Formats: sequence, structure tokens, C-alpha cells
Amino acid sequence: MRHLLSAGDLSLAEATSILDVAEEMHAIQDRPIKKLPTLRGRTVINMFFEDSTRTRTSFEMAGKWMSADTINISAKGSSTSKGESLRDTMLTLDAMGTDCFVIRHGSSGAVAQAASWVRAHVVNAGDGTHEHPTQALLDAFAIRRHLRAGGDDAFEGRTIAIVGDLLHSRVVRSNVLLQRTLGSRVVLVAPPTLLPTGVEQWGCEVTNDFDAVVDEADIVMMLRVQRERMHGGFFPTAREYTELYGLTPERLARLRPGAAICHPGPMNRGLEISSEAADATNSLILDQVTAGVSVRMSVLYHLLGGSPE
Ligand code: NCD
Repeated sequence: MRHLLSAGDLSLAEATSILDVAEEMHAIQDRPIKKLPTLRGRTVINMFFEDSTRTRTSFEMAGKWMSADTINISAKGSSTSKGESLRDTMLTLDAMGTDCFVIRHGSSGAVAQAASWVRAHVVNAGDGTHEHPTQALLDAFAIRRHLRAGGDDAFEGRTIAIVGDLLHSRVVRSNVLLQRTLGSRVVLVAPPTLLPTGVEQWGCEVTNDFDAVVDEADIVMMLRVQRERMHGGFFPTAREYTELYGLTPERLARLRPGAAICHPGPMNRGLEISSEAADATNSLILDQVTAGVSVRMSVLYHLLGGSPE
């Protein structure tokens, strides 16, 4: 594996290997000293041209816990704000001997483009409304652990409902691609105005009726209403959105036994998800965050190699 640009590039064997190694990495969370020598001497540059809390911090932790030298660059502090092109910035940093770039960019396709210019490995940490493969991997990791706790961690035969602002979401596309490889049934739920064009060709069931699927799903994954990407009215009022598409206390009560709740964060509490649901005992939201570090350690390990001590 040279780059991780799309969840669709992963074979079942590769995805499973990333999840399995992440499981081994997960053990480090319980140690007082969180340090492995695995990536000693390797340099990872995190380039975030868009805001981030969990993705950036967890990539930095993942690198540091494996002893890589991690460097953070944001658009504001780099020469891109002086007008340097992305290509020149990438070539400059690549020429310094960088081993891996972790890139988040506001334009769909920008990360794949950057990967074509450099010698180093590249991980897509979110490109526009396109993809966010490590998010889908950490979701799968948290879901698999939840299923395992219930006695059977197979994805086949599971129903995952992904609900909300699918139009602006890179998380949904990566999840659809990865969950298809893993064997789940994915049902997409959104108002007609928030469905991506061409969604019929994604090979999933699509509905506007959340109530029709809420009690069928093994996993209900709520997505954030991405107001910063919305130019215009996509739904009449926030209250109506919550009534039709929110994980309200009423819908929470209708989840089937053993079902769990996911949300990639950041959440709009009270809009797409109620606090009752976000903080419920069957909410995996903080498990997803914890999984983020382990899965990103595994991804860096798969790309950069190193000793599996
Ligand atoms: C997501 C993102 O940035 O794509 N968040 C994340 O990485 N945890 C989803 C979002 O912004 O709503």
C-alpha cells in the first residue's frame, strides 16, 4: 500500500489487516507510557488546510506514540497564504525528506493530486465533500468491537443506517465503500435536498423516511448538518429537520436491542442528535474517538512499515 486516498482502494484483506493491527495498537491506550519504537526516525507531516479537532490530534498522537517525528502545518502558517501553489508547497516539503503526508484539504480531489506530485506516502484526512477513509476505518473498528461484545463480530447481515447531511459529507462516501467491502447492508437516510447526485448508483438503499428504518438498524450513524458548507436553504427550519431526521429521544427508544449509535463528530446537539442519544449507554461516539488513534497508528504502520514490536 503506497497511499490511502479512498476507502474503495482497500481490499477486504487490507481493510481487515488494518483493523486487526489497530486492535493490537489499541492495547497501548491502557499503558501509563504510550510509546512504541515502531516509526523511529520517520517524519510525518500533518497538513491541515481545513479545521479539525479529532482527526488532526489523533494523527499527531498516532505518529508520536510510534516515535515518528510529527510536524503540523496549517494553511494560515504556511507559505500557501503568501500565494505559493499547493504543488510547490508539497514539492518543497517532500524535498526535505518527509516520509508521509497526512492531508486535509477543502477541495475534493486535492489530496489525490498532491499524492501524484510527491515521493512520500500520502493519507487522505478528508478532501472536500469527497472522502475520509480513516474515519470509515475507525467507525468500522468501533462497530466491530461493539459487535464482538455482543458475541458475533461479522459485518455480513448487519444493517447500517447513515442519516443526515449526506450531500456535504465525505464520511458517508468512505463508509459506503468500506462497509460494502466488509459486507454490511447500508441504508442511506436524508431529505431529498441533502442527497448527493448519483446516489442511486452507490448500490445502497436510499430513503427519506427515517422512521421506516430506525428500528431495523444495527448501527445508526448520524451525520452532522454541515452549515459551513451550505449556501442556501436545504430544509425549512432546524425544528423540522430534527423532527424528521434527528435522533430524538423518541427514536432512541425505538432502536432495536443491541443497536448502537455512531457520530463522527463534531455534533450539533439538539439538531441531528439529542443529548439523550449522544450520551446513551449504547452510544459509540467516544469509542470512535479512541479508535481514531489506534486505527491511525495502524494506517501509518501499514504505509511506513517498521518493526511490529
Ligand atoms: C468529519 C469531517 O471533518 O469530515 N469529522 C471528522 O473528521 N471527525 C465530519 C464533519 O465534519 O461533520
